[in-house]
Amino acid sequence: MTRENTSFRAGFAVAMSAASLLLSFPAYAQGSGPSVPEPALSAGFRFAENSGEELFANICQGCHMSDGKGATGAGTYPSLAGNSNLEAGGYPVSIVVNGQRGMPPFGAMMSDDQVAAVVNYVRTHFGNRYLDAVTSEDVRAVRR
Ligand code: HEC
Repeated sequence: MTRENTSFRAGFAVAMSAASLLLSFPAYAQGSGPSVPEPALSAGFRFAENSGEELFANICQGCHMSDGKGATGAGTYPSLAGNSNLEAGGYPVSIVVNGQRGMPPFGAMMSDDQVAAVVNYVRTHFGNRYLDAVTSEDVRAVRR
């Protein structure tokens, strides 16, 4: 190996580590590109889970509790257990997609199939027996 070759390699290694440093800060890296309007919160976050059970455990349970019975404390999180408000499937679909007062909207973070899966899960668990499953078309219909 020649001397020049070695210093080229060293320089290349420095350049590469600078590049990977930049890549590890995507927010800064994006600054140089064309400006694309981004959502104010959590840019582009999407939930990866696909089953209603996993989605419930990772999103809804934090407020509505693992038994679906909700909680009262710093806020009021209504019980989803044995809840006749879930009878019309369009109602929970609309709340999950668009939110309502203290319930944040999750529509931008979930696919139509994910919303349908978690709604079907709560409508058939926690003492609810609403067997007329909602579909991804029902979800699309309430997206604004
Ligand atoms: C950050 C806390 C929070 C999370 C997370 C959350 N909710 Fe809620 N949810 C609420 C609050 C607060 C309300 C009451 C909203 C109101 O005052 O109208 C509510 C209301 C609801 C209602 C209406 C209940 C009724 O009787 O009218 C449904 C259905 C519901 N949530 C389902 C879900 C599902 C499904 C998830 C997960 C995808 C979820 N929620 C995640 C806080 C939360």
